Amino acid sequence: MISALAPVSIDSSRIRTEIQSLQPQLSDWRRRLHQQPELGFQEHLTAALIQKKLQDWGIEHQTSIAGTGIVALLPGQAPGPVLAIRADMDALPIQEENPVPYRSQHPGRMHACGHDGHTAIALGTAYYLSRHPELFTGQVKIIFQPAEEGPGGAKPMIEAGVLRQPDVDAIIGLHLWNNLPLGSIGLREGALMAAVEGFELTLQGKGGHGAMPHQTVDSILVGAQIVSALQAIVARNLDPLQAGVVTVGKFQAGHTHNVIADSAQLSGTVRYFDPALAGFFQRQMEQIIGGICQSHGATYSLDYRAFYPPVINHREVVNLVRSVAETVIETPAGIVPNCQTMGGEDMSFFLQAVPGCYFFLGSANLNKGLTYPHHHPRFDFDETALGVGVELFVRCVERFCSSSQ
Ligand code: NI
Repeated sequence: MISALAPVSIDSSRIRTEIQSLQPQLSDWRRRLHQQPELGFQEHLTAALIQKKLQDWGIEHQTSIAGTGIVALLPGQAPGPVLAIRADMDALPIQEENPVPYRSQHPGRMHACGHDGHTAIALGTAYYLSRHPELFTGQVKIIFQPAEEGPGGAKPMIEAGVLRQPDVDAIIGLHLWNNLPLGSIGLREGALMAAVEGFELTLQGKGGHGAMPHQTVDSILVGAQIVSALQAIVARNLDPLQAGVVTVGKFQAGHTHNVIADSAQLSGTVRYFDPALAGFFQRQMEQIIGGICQSHGATYSLDYRAFYPPVINHREVVNLVRSVAETVIETPAGIVPNCQTMGGEDMSFFLQAVPGCYFFLGSANLNKGLTYPHHHPRFDFDETALGVGVELFVRCVERFCSSSQ
């Protein structure tokens, strides 16, 4: 029973045992969330579950922040620094294909990225810390954030003041990660994840007979040249020691085989790590598209948007998380240095506002067949990682508050 954990003083070696005893509850909360996935800013059932738990446990909290966001505040044994822990709550518009008893009950929606697990880990951390205020001084703020998958809930939550009153000194967060096995953690100082930008391009040519191209401006030919030329931005304009991606993910044009297409629609995504590259890809893209269109007599409109900046971790907080991981992760090889992905995350906005560390928590298990990638209709993870996540957070709180005194 979860109420068996009394608020008594404990020595540090008991933390693991006590958190491991929470494992059935962590799985239960995760599975309940998994069964009712909700898209960005629609996380009403999710928020209700979180709110009910916080109420039952007597934890001070605020709801309806930036829509469906929730912030819980946990006081330690004495005044001191404020550490924030961030968890995202939203699901994806994917039809689940896992034949599991806890599969999604919402058609076309699925927790295919593990945010159900992030919420369960944050709940477990809130519960444990509320029972053990003697472990830390200062306060812990747990931020349940909506809409990470889009359009982005971090920025509106910051604008709503979640990092103030009390002012947050540092922030940590994790992403369950099936690119790493259970029992490992990936982190690094500096850029962990990429900036996310996107574009919608409409090309306007002049349609006509497929056998009389001289009377037309072929939007498919123009588009095809643009798709090829955009790859030169990374290959021939970006310093080869820097990372970048330009992907055209959609190209729609034409109706039948013997008609030259009047117009074409393309869209895609851009990723990079270096914050100094903000604006670079858009400028290069405008030049290339403008030049190719002009050479063919086509016109265009480009809607280019910067969504999330890169996730940049701060040295002091990375060192703190690493030192905690050395006590939680049993094998030294389980701490994967220089872990990086071109995936993006709006945790980046929190890390622009306060020092912090975002890290990956290994959740794949080959023996259980839990190896599908994130955003796949068969994504699932080893729930043992939930307890590891709670222990990492709890020990980060313990260490942060003692190191900051
Ligand atoms: Ni995610």
